[in-house]
Amino acid sequence: MRATISLLGLLLAAGPLAVRAQSAAPTRITVQADKPGAAVPKTLFGLFFEDINFAADGGLYPELVKNKSFELPEPLLGWQALKGGAALETYQVRTEGAASPASPHYLRLTAKAASPDAGISNEGFRGMGMKQGEEYTLTLLARRVAGPVQHLRVVLEGDKGATLAESRLALPTGPGWQPLTLTLRPTATFAKARLRLVLDGAGTVDLDAVSLYPKATWQNRPNGLRPDLVQLLKDLQPGFLRFPGGCIVEGRTLSNRYQWKETIGDVASRQPIINRWNTEFAHRFTPDYYQSFGLGFFEYFQLSEDIGAEPLPILNVGMACQYNSAELAPMSSAAAPGPSAPASHDHAQDDPSLEVFIQDALDLLEFANGPASSPWGAKRVAMGHPAPFNLKYIGVGNEQWGPQYLERYEPFAKAVKAKYPQVQLVSSAGPSPEGANFDLATKYLRELPTGLVGLIDEHYYAKPEWFRQNAGRYDNYPRTGPKIFAGEYAAHPEGIGNSKNRNTWDAAISEAAFMTGLERNADIVQMASYAPLFAHVDAWQWAPDLIWFDNLQAYGTPSYYVQKLFSLNKGTQILPVQLPAGAKNGQDNLYVSAVADKADVVVKLVNYAATPRPVQLTLSGLKRAAKNAQAQVLAASDLQTENSLQQPQKLAPVTQPVTVSGQQVSYTLPPYSLTVLRVPARQ
Ligand code: AHR
Repeated sequence: MRATISLLGLLLAAGPLAVRAQSAAPTRITVQADKPGAAVPKTLFGLFFEDINFAADGGLYPELVKNKSFELPEPLLGWQALKGGAALETYQVRTEGAASPASPHYLRLTAKAASPDAGISNEGFRGMGMKQGEEYTLTLLARRVAGPVQHLRVVLEGDKGATLAESRLALPTGPGWQPLTLTLRPTATFAKARLRLVLDGAGTVDLDAVSLYPKATWQNRPNGLRPDLVQLLKDLQPGFLRFPGGCIVEGRTLSNRYQWKETIGDVASRQPIINRWNTEFAHRFTPDYYQSFGLGFFEYFQLSEDIGAEPLPILNVGMACQYNSAELAPMSSAAAPGPSAPASHDHAQDDPSLEVFIQDALDLLEFANGPASSPWGAKRVAMGHPAPFNLKYIGVGNEQWGPQYLERYEPFAKAVKAKYPQVQLVSSAGPSPEGANFDLATKYLRELPTGLVGLIDEHYYAKPEWFRQNAGRYDNYPRTGPKIFAGEYAAHPEGIGNSKNRNTWDAAISEAAFMTGLERNADIVQMASYAPLFAHVDAWQWAPDLIWFDNLQAYGTPSYYVQKLFSLNKGTQILPVQLPAGAKNGQDNLYVSAVADKADVVVKLVNYAATPRPVQLTLSGLKRAAKNAQAQVLAASDLQTENSLQQPQKLAPVTQPVTVSGQQVSYTLPPYSLTVLRVPARQ
C-alpha cells in the first residue's frame, strides 16, 4: 500500500498556486539503498567566516566600546566629548606617560566643575545592545592628575537620554595608572545605548583601555563570544570553520594584510588596524570599520573546537588583494623591492619576502599543534589551551589568481609539506569558476606532484539561475588528483556586489539545487561553505549573507535553513539515484540526491516549479524500512520570501510524517520547495 503525506497545510501555506490540483503522473525515482558508494566526508558542509559587515567587532566579538584604547589613526573615533554645560575644559589624546608601550595613546579629561556634561561618551557599534537583567563589566585604566575630583560617574544612556544604569567609580588616590572595574545592570533592554564617563568634580583625569563587556558570553568565558551568534553556528553542525576570510587575509596592501601573530596573546596588546572593507564600496561606505583583533587566531581555534568544526585558516601567500593594490612580496629576501605601497596606520611597515609568509604558516602549525616545549606551542599553552588544536588544513592564499600566485604557491606548499607532510593544503582557483585564470590555475595545480595540493578552492557568486544550471558541475570532474573545496558561494539575485541583493527564497532554493550536486559528488567535493556568514543590519557592506543580526537579536536567512538541512542530513555514504529513463538531474526543475546515514536513507528533492509535483520513490534493496519516515520541508510559493528580525522564521523547515510501504514512498513536493526525506531503518 502506498501512503501519501498530508500536504494540505503546506500547500495552503504555500499560496494559491500550490492548491491547484496536480494531475501529472508521479515522477518515478529509484534510490539504490543497497548500493552505497563513496563516504560523505564529515567536512562536507562548513562555515566561512570573515570580518566583513561588522561580523567580528560589533558582532561575534561582543566588546561594546568602539576604539577602547584610543589607538586608531583618528584617535577619538567612536567618542564624543560632552560639552553641553561647558564644564569640560579640555579633552586630548596624549602619549606621555602612557600606561603601556603596547597602547601608547590615552585620553586626558579636564573639568572646571562637576557637571553631567563634563566627560565623554562612546557610541558603540551602531549603539550598544543592553539587556535588562544582564550584567556588563566596565573596566578601565585611570590616573588622577590634578584637582579635587574623586569619582567618575558611569552612565548607560538609553532611548532619548534615559538612564539605563548608573554608578560611581572611585578614582585612584595614589599616583600612576590603576585598573578600575564595576558592574552595570541596565533596567531596560535597548539596542542602541551609549556609555557616558563623566568627571564628578573639578580636576584632570587620564583614561585608557575602556571596556564594557557583557558577562553573558559563549560558555561564560572572559573575552568570550556573543552566545546567540555562536549558537546559530553550532546549530549548523559545521564540518569546518574557514577563517579569517576572504579578502581580509590579503589586505588592500601587504601592510594591512591579516597577520595572525598580531592577534594572539594579551588582548590589550593587540593593535587595531583598518578593516579593508571600510571604504571598499562607495554605496556602503563604512569609514569607522576597524579590526580590534579581540577575536584573534586563538579565539578562532577555540570557536572551531566549541562548535565541532575542523579549523581551516587561510593565510596570505605574499599577495595583497588583486582587486586593489595587487602588491607582491618578492620571492626571496635577496630580491627585496622598494618601499611598500603607502598605507595609513596599518601594521608596522615592512617589506616581507615570501620566506616570511612561509615561516608564518610553519609557526602557525606549531602554535596550533606543537608541544609546550616548542616556542609557538608554548604561547598556545600560555593562553590556556595545553591540548593541541589538531590543525589539519592550511589555505595558501585567499582568492588569488595568475602566474604570480602559482609561482608563490609551489615553494610555499613544498615548505609546509616538507615539515608537516600530513597537513592538507588548500589552493585557490581564483575568483571565478570558469575562464582563463580558472583554467590556468586548475591545470597547473593538477599537474603539481601528488600531495602538494589537497583541495582546490573554487568560488562562485552568481545569479540564482547559474546555481540551478550548474547543479551537475561536478558530475564529470576528474576523479583523481586534488579534491574540491567550494570555499565561497552564494546566489546573488541582482548580480555580484549589487547592494540591492537580498536573501530571498529564490536565492536559497537555487543554492539547494546546486547542493544536491555537491552531495552527489561528495567523493571529490570534500568541503563547501556559503559566504559571507554574518551581517549587521545597520553596518553591512556585502549582501546577501547567511545570518543577519542587530545589537540584540539575530536570524537565519532561507539560505541558513538550506545549509542546516543539508548539513544535519549529510549522511555517511552517497547513494545512487536513478531518474526516469532519459531524464537528467535538474531537468524539468527537479533536483535529487540521496545518502545513507548509517542505516537510514535520506533523499533530498528540490522542486523549482510553481506547481506541486508528485514523486514515486523506490528505495531499492531496502530491507527493513520503518513505516514512520519524515519529511523536513522548506517551501514558499513566493520566491521573494525573506526572513527578518521581525519575522525570523517566516521561512523555516516544517516537519511532516511520511508513511513508507515496503520500498515505496509516494509523496507530493510542494511548489518551490526543498524536501529532505528521511526513511529510518526498522529496529
Ligand atoms: O565573501 C566576500 C568576498 O568575496 C571575500 O572576501 C572574497 O574572497 C570574495 O571575493
